[in-house]
Amino acid sequence: MHVLGIETSCDETAASVVRDGTLILSNVVATSLKEHSKYGGIIPEIASRRQIELINAVVQKALEDAGLTLEEIDALAVTQSPGLIGSLLVGVSYARALSFALRKPLVDVDHIQAHLYANFLTQARGQSPFKTPKLPAVGLVVSGGHSSLFELQDFKKFRLLGQTRDDAAGEAFDKVARILGLGYPGGPIIDKLAKEGVNREIHFSAAELPGTFDFSFSGTKTAVLYYQKSNQSKDGYSVPKVAYAFQKSVVEILVKKAIGACQKKGAQTLLMGGGVAANSYLRERLIQEAKSAKINAFFPPLILCLDNAAMIAGLGYHHLIGKKSNKVNAGNRISRYHRHA
Ligand code: KG4
Ligand code: ZN
Repeated sequence: MHVLGIETSCDETAASVVRDGTLILSNVVATSLKEHSKYGGIIPEIASRRQIELINAVVQKALEDAGLTLEEIDALAVTQSPGLIGSLLVGVSYARALSFALRKPLVDVDHIQAHLYANFLTQARGQSPFKTPKLPAVGLVVSGGHSSLFELQDFKKFRLLGQTRDDAAGEAFDKVARILGLGYPGGPIIDKLAKEGVNREIHFSAAELPGTFDFSFSGTKTAVLYYQKSNQSKDGYSVPKVAYAFQKSVVEILVKKAIGACQKKGAQTLLMGGGVAANSYLRERLIQEAKSAKINAFFPPLILCLDNAAMIAGLGYHHLIGKKSNKVNAGNRISRYHRHA
């Protein structure tokens, strides 16, 4: 089954064709990130305007790369939430129109859940993923908009265990980068810079929120701000050292809660996802801690950590199958499907 995935929840305009929920035949991502960088964050109006301009070409390219025509697509999947409302509307309207015109089923996909599904995708023809994760699992999504821990029984049962009470992990990276006068997005810059600032002198504590799987990063961000204000004119002040200490504080609490959730839930698989899962220090520390706790930790390849439509098409496939011998059609009444007149 060939599913065409469409993703427009933030600044990206993405389309992808995935075969049978696993094999990526194409993965096209256009971004308007550069246009936002001068503002230090995403401007929703600019994002959705660019998406309207780009979506047709991005979908065409995804079909071309997959070597398929629109008629050869079996179904469509689109990011339904969460995200910027104007941006989501572009993708959903486009997908609905295509589905209607082609009389092919369309399924809604949750963007956060799809980030975890990225661990089940492969880009190599004829091969299953490098090592397919086994369910049940605990999943941690850390992105620009979310920090959420889930328990997954299967691809239809994602149970939220905890989430951020204020800033998302990626948002904290972006805001701290702004405080430190670095560019946007801040995550990759801090990741790189922190490698030159390894130290034990600076320590930013992270909110523990004991007894919960929730996170809070705004206190750490404020601590960085005050540290910078009182130290930036002193000798020995070093932006890479501050970046390292901040990154360490965020990463250690993420690792602790993710491993803790696996132990509490008896899960031997830990799935990571979202832009912050690209962080090299997080990858290193999580692999270390998972190994000593005998947990199999999975990270998607870097390209699939960031927003993409392959994860939408892949998870969409699982929402589609199992419904009356796959005969889901455009008039299906199941609520998660868009219905047509
Ligand atoms: O998943 P994503 O592409 O978009 C959302 O759904 O939010 O994540 C983007 C976020 C940004 O906040 C960015 O700073 C962060 O992921 N990010 C990183 C790294 N690469 C991207 N954070 C830390 N280290 C990285 N290497
Ligand atoms: Zn995302």
